[in-house]
Amino acid sequence: MALSSELIANRHGRLYFDGIDATVLAKKYGTPLLITSERRLIDNYSRIVSAFRKNYRNFRINYAIKANPNPNIIAIIAKRGGGTDVASVGEIDIALMAGVPRDRIMFSPNNVSAEDFRYAIDRHIPVNFDDIGQYELALRYANPDLVSFRLNPGFGKGEFPGIVTAGPQAKFGIPETHIMKCYALAKKSGVKRFGIHAMGGSNVLSPEYFAAITSRITEVAGRIAKKIGIEFEFIDIGGGLGVPYRNEDHDLDIERTAKLVVDRFRDGCDKSDLGNPTLTVEPGRYLVADTTILLGTVNNVKRYSKTFIGTDIGMNVLIRPALYNAHHEILVANRMGRPNSGKATVVGQICENTDAIARDRSLPSVSVGDTLAVLNAGAYVYSMSNQYNSIPRPMELLITKTGKELVMRRRETKEDVLRTVIFHK
Ligand code: LLP
Repeated sequence: MALSSELIANRHGRLYFDGIDATVLAKKYGTPLLITSERRLIDNYSRIVSAFRKNYRNFRINYAIKANPNPNIIAIIAKRGGGTDVASVGEIDIALMAGVPRDRIMFSPNNVSAEDFRYAIDRHIPVNFDDIGQYELALRYANPDLVSFRLNPGFGKGEFPGIVTAGPQAKFGIPETHIMKCYALAKKSGVKRFGIHAMGGSNVLSPEYFAAITSRITEVAGRIAKKIGIEFEFIDIGGGLGVPYRNEDHDLDIERTAKLVVDRFRDGCDKSDLGNPTLTVEPGRYLVADTTILLGTVNNVKRYSKTFIGTDIGMNVLIRPALYNAHHEILVANRMGRPNSGKATVVGQICENTDAIARDRSLPSVSVGDTLAVLNAGAYVYSMSNQYNSIPRPMELLITKTGKELVMRRRETKEDVLRTVIFHK
């Protein structure tokens, strides 16, 4: 998210987000505070849909709600025809709460129980199986009408090793050498409707990678269709579409990505007589990352041999830097446009030395009481936040497309943190 985009602006030294003074919102609602722009979410969704649809009509977005599972966000996408990718029964419930039609929810879990499959199958929610063992477990209960398997395409790509989800080191999916017998078993069990899925990794900015995944999955689908004698209703190339986190990063060229993917898709379908299956893409990050900023407050500044800026937005709120060494741009919302004055490490309240959201970052000089704004906080921020050190999780605010402020998740309280405890005195 580049500074001075229409979403992020410096007005008289203050950060305006989607037209609203962020420092005013920090005072009004307190921090940590996540603020999401509905306008940006709609733009992101429309951009990706129009890029693909103009190349291929039979196209479907399944929003991967793990990126940001707030039902208000999902509903904005669902109202525009988007489906969802869900990974747990909890996520199934959220998608249903948000009004997503059952047949537009794809349950793509790994290592879940027979009861979890039963929950999805009872509700006629399509399932994408991560392994033959998972399919056999589901069969103990019932045979789903529609069956998809997750292919491990043999290669993957992600911004960090920790977010590569395919290839020989990945726990996900089924290698090509073993996937044939999965479909053979499904056919033998009487299944009539089929799909196939792959997901190679996250935050990828190269269109060629998505084209390569598409070629691979259509090739494998072609071999399966021929050998087993089945038709595919959909081919799902997963998510992974990236966004720039550093000011100097470039955007993913979505027009070129769509064109390359669809070219390869058509080619693959033609070569193997696959017909015109639905092409599904499952973006999480691309839809939500840059819709949201995270505001925090500076509670202490230590200037010894190193400078530490102590805040209320540590790794309990934003774990990505500690977990992957991920980068998020940080602005001082009440000192916009000030020159940087040396390097500082921005830390939180957690009793771990991994608790930093930026290390040795050039920033303007800050004081206690200042408001920090972390950019690209819409994906994998709240959804990966936790209550370590018994600190309640933040609040989520939506700026609607008409400029209204809607609290879409209240701030947790100390009592919420204790809610599941049974204390035996
Ligand atoms: N579909 C499946 C089956 C997935 O496992 C994922 C993400 C997605 C779609 C969406 O991927 P996206 O479009 O958001 O890249 N926590 C990490 C990202 C892990 C992604 C895992 N799977 C992070 O904070 O960068």
